[in-house]
Amino acid sequence: MAVVSLEAVLKPAVSQRWAVGAFNVANHDMAEGVIQAAESVGRPVIVNVAEVHFPVLEIEEFIHYLRDRMSRSPVPLVLHLDHGNSFDGIMQAIHYGFSSVMLDASKLAYADNAAKTREIVRIAHAAGVSVEAELGHVGGLEGDRRAAQVVDEKAFTNPDEAVRFVEKTGVDALAVAVGTVHGIYQGEPQLDFGRIAALRERLSIPLVLHGGTGLSRRDFQHAVAAGINKINFYTGLYSPAVQAIQGVLETENGYPELGTLSQAARKAVRQAVLEQIEVFGTQALKGY
Ligand code: 13P
Repeated sequence: MAVVSLEAVLKPAVSQRWAVGAFNVANHDMAEGVIQAAESVGRPVIVNVAEVHFPVLEIEEFIHYLRDRMSRSPVPLVLHLDHGNSFDGIMQAIHYGFSSVMLDASKLAYADNAAKTREIVRIAHAAGVSVEAELGHVGGLEGDRRAAQVVDEKAFTNPDEAVRFVEKTGVDALAVAVGTVHGIYQGEPQLDFGRIAALRERLSIPLVLHGGTGLSRRDFQHAVAAGINKINFYTGLYSPAVQAIQGVLETENGYPELGTLSQAARKAVRQAVLEQIEVFGTQALKGY
């Protein structure tokens, strides 16, 4: 099956109130773990590759492998650029065949964020690629997932601004700041479910929750019931994969086969993704 568009997996999620996991992959083992999990239950997933990981991925070769692997899969899969933060990175992703890209200009003032997003939307749509933007700012650093992160309520998404932003930019999906952070939370996460519901009432496009790791099953279920449709999840795959590798190193006296380390990492990622697919309520897509 071809790699599909963001719209193909998120349109039914919006109308039927469920969510699709967008799982970040930072090497081949993570990619296999995510895709194998989706295949084993016949549910769609979004495969996220973040621009911050391009330098460690040998990106052109990695995307050749990923597109080939995804196009031979029986389940619908989206290949999505996560946190595109440079014009060049986003153009590269479009050139390599991502079906969807995120522009993260959320640290800029509203007008600059809107202008940059509009520019990327025009280019990406001309190439048949969908665009996610972020309004408000989800805290925490991409690429530094082990440090505890603090929520900044001042940066939460304003629903009135969000309506104007979507109209002005023509963006396909919107990442919203409602109390999540990337990486590890400092204290218990407190999500603003009322804000999600207000955004869902005013907007018809898919709403995206970044910083999935560390939220409880109840948090996810409330967020999805309130209107979240795409949930980004990375640290919760990375940590079990690293722990699994450390476990093999300890039990095999430090000299295991490299393939044994890969298998342990894949299995840990697969297991974590399967749990999240169930929690997010992801449904099989009709017609695929
Ligand atoms: P976590 O690492 O907190 O799951 O966040 C992932 C994310 O939002 C990627 O964009």
